[in-house]
Amino acid sequence: MRQLKPKVYMVGAIDWDRRLFDQLIPLPDGTSYNAYLIDGGEKIALLDTVDPTKAMVLMDNLIKLGINKVDYVVSHHAEQDHSGAIPEILMFYPDAKVVTNPKCKGMLIDLLHIEEDRFITIEDGHRISLGGKTLQFVYIPWVHWPETMGTYLVEDRIFFPCDFFGSHLATNSLFVDDEATVYEAAKRYYAEIMMPFRTNIAKNLEKIKDLDIDMIAPSHGPVYDKPGFIVNAYKGWISDQPKNEVLLPYISMHHSVAKMVEYFVDALTERGIKVRQFDLAVTDIGKLAMALVDAATIVIGSPTVLTGPHPNVAYACVLANALRPKAKFASIIGSYAWGGRMVEQIKELIPNLKVQLLEPVIAKGLPRDDDFTALDRLADEILAKHKELKITE
Ligand code: FEO
Repeated sequence: MRQLKPKVYMVGAIDWDRRLFDQLIPLPDGTSYNAYLIDGGEKIALLDTVDPTKAMVLMDNLIKLGINKVDYVVSHHAEQDHSGAIPEILMFYPDAKVVTNPKCKGMLIDLLHIEEDRFITIEDGHRISLGGKTLQFVYIPWVHWPETMGTYLVEDRIFFPCDFFGSHLATNSLFVDDEATVYEAAKRYYAEIMMPFRTNIAKNLEKIKDLDIDMIAPSHGPVYDKPGFIVNAYKGWISDQPKNEVLLPYISMHHSVAKMVEYFVDALTERGIKVRQFDLAVTDIGKLAMALVDAATIVIGSPTVLTGPHPNVAYACVLANALRPKAKFASIIGSYAWGGRMVEQIKELIPNLKVQLLEPVIAKGLPRDDDFTALDRLADEILAKHKELKITE
């Protein structure tokens, strides 16, 4: 375990080898489940726990610190990667109470069957004194569940926001020591977990701006001892203004769509538009999610399979629809052999995207000259739309 400030310890677990979260999200760099122990002299508080698979690591860390009693287990968020070892902690420390908000309490009872009498509920702004250190609770709802909250450690000016500002990054560096690596991991985390809640994040950023924060200690990844780095990154990611970028996820079965994609990428490049091209047969969906953070336009490329889009394309559409990116425009390019409803079915898969749909380009079989002309027309239209947004400079 490591010390952030005197009597404030990291006691969580590093999960170097985990490669999938929620059986969905790739973790190329592993992750960590950060729990923090605060010894205030009179009372001891544990902020969050760890994934239940790492409960013994947490217990070992507490034993190595010589912690014989825990008075409070603060639960910021009911998801099991942070709450999953609370039952073990309550068993090992029978006088410990779970401190959380009423909504999180209900979720912890549902998810972990914690007894009602083990809880102390607090409200937004409530303070608990540990003696020489004071916990102030700050509701930060919807980052990324409805019950999420953080704790501000008043005397040390550390903000513990749980998932908010986190990164899936296994490292034994307590603090950020490589901003480029952490930026990438934190952006991936934002894209996969936080992006659907941009509006709530903006409100929460506004809410915490008056706290005098010296460190941000999230529940995944390293601690930010220069918090402006991650706060400014979040401000950019949540801003409504997209970048002069086209995201182009596609599948090609017999090279027709591939020829269209190749031509279209050249057409966009000639017009000064950045392209992020992803072959959905092999794409890391985390990379795709990251590209969704900034792109002004999404162009989906698909062949027609049994009258509809390729299943990998349908999966990408469902994902993008769930993540609700800030893109303003979308279109479809693709091919068919004898007919189908590929375009209609793709449109039906993305109702959450608040985009203007630009005229699709669909070739019969291998693309011909008129299909390439139509791709030039689509590239022109995208450039004109991006100019209207004033993002082409
Ligand atoms: Fe890291 Fe929402 O749990």
